[in-house]
Amino acid sequence: MGMVKFYKGGDMPLELHKVRVVQKLHLVPVERRLDAMKEAGFNTFRLGTKDVYLDMLTDSGTNAMSDNQLAAMMHADDAYAGSQSFERLQKAVEDVLGKKYLLPVHQGRAAENVICRTFVKPGNVIPMNYHFTTVLAHVTENGGKIEELLHDHAFQLKSDHPFKGNMDIDKLEKCIQENGVENIPFIRMEASTNLIGGQPFSLANLMDVRRIADKYGIMLVLDASLIGENAYLIKQREENWKENSMGEILKMMTGLADLVYFSARKLSSSRGGGICTNQKALYAKMEAMIPLYEGFLTYGGISVREIEAMAVGLRETLDESMICQSPSYIKYLVEELEKRGIPMVTPPGVLGAHVNAMEFCKHIPQEEYPAGALAAAFYICSGIRGMERGTMSSVRDEEGKEILADVELLRLAVPRRVFTLSQINYVIDRMTWLWDNRHLIGGLKFTYEPPVLRFFMGGLEPTSDWPSKLMDKFRKDFGDSL
Ligand code: F0G
Repeated sequence: MGMVKFYKGGDMPLELHKVRVVQKLHLVPVERRLDAMKEAGFNTFRLGTKDVYLDMLTDSGTNAMSDNQLAAMMHADDAYAGSQSFERLQKAVEDVLGKKYLLPVHQGRAAENVICRTFVKPGNVIPMNYHFTTVLAHVTENGGKIEELLHDHAFQLKSDHPFKGNMDIDKLEKCIQENGVENIPFIRMEASTNLIGGQPFSLANLMDVRRIADKYGIMLVLDASLIGENAYLIKQREENWKENSMGEILKMMTGLADLVYFSARKLSSSRGGGICTNQKALYAKMEAMIPLYEGFLTYGGISVREIEAMAVGLRETLDESMICQSPSYIKYLVEELEKRGIPMVTPPGVLGAHVNAMEFCKHIPQEEYPAGALAAAFYICSGIRGMERGTMSSVRDEEGKEILADVELLRLAVPRRVFTLSQINYVIDRMTWLWDNRHLIGGLKFTYEPPVLRFFMGGLEPTSDWPSKLMDKFRKDFGDSL
């Protein structure tokens, strides 16, 4: 699906769509890129897209919309309460995710806010395969703490393990026994575990987690923001499910969870989010939070047009030829970079290609944010904006000491159906140049450090004049080319 064979061997990612609306991009000269990086405080989140050629920051809200999604937006039902658009969304959630009760929220972290405010009490522990930045912030905000229970092999960045997002069941049982059932309001499983490189869990593993949840009577919560891609990789990699449809796999996954939440910015290439369940009592516990924090129960802070796009996007998740597009580009990108000796997270996961910055920038201490430095350097030499996923995205402990991240990654997101293969080849070419010149990259330090989710708006500066030296080398090698 989405890959055909080259005549002389190897896989060629092939688009199963055509482009009908385009947007102009800007590739500004390297001198401007250096200035833009300085103005952005060496934080790619703070760059403006006027200075960005390929925006590989995230797939959140940046996947291409389909013609059917855009068409659906035109027959949205503007109503504060009881909108038919919401009914269509409810029906799509029931058909695709198999859950009857839906609470709409404005995006994924809003779902985390509602869930954590409802269920997390001070001193609670939330076991999870791995955290995402926003859920960590919400658990902590409510006085809880997280326990990350991935298998140790998940941190072997170069691997051929098909399911690095699996939870270690022995660790889970130990965690429950040590902390006490009464202190664990829920277990959280994240589909396509984002921060370790978009790595999926297997259905067999989710079934094991369910078995433990049942044994101890603990609720199981599934973060389904990237569930489509996780289901696709289950179909590709898990023997028992090869013959099943995407719909069957998706329903099997969500059927194992008591509560499912998602960011529609990722799941259905639109905006919004949701929390869904088949248990009326769980729904009732959270219901009052929606009008308080989000909006009325039939829009939850999302525009009705986006609700229509969400409904159609959810149904499109069942289409393997749509879901496979980003993972097949990522596979191509990772394999081509690997061939050139660049340390990549393998096997290729979803949502983006991930460069192992600790390996790429061995000479930069973790306290100087090697992944952040690599993101800045890559932008300067290419105009491509990636995202740091490492210690900059982590937090400090109570004494103000850095909690060093388990992995230091530069994520190059590949939003669905947005880039062309020649653009991906440009990524490969400029990353290869940077690899050959990696000794020129230096560290970063914070000059402005917000107390919560610091990576979003934080400002940094280089620890030496390395960015100018990198630019000079670029000019020397590329002449007057952009
Ligand atoms: N859960 C997962 C697994 C996510 O990847 C995200 C967002 C969220 C929850 C929060 O959703 O942004 O709609 O509030 N991930 C984006 C990313 C931000 O770039 O990976 P949100």
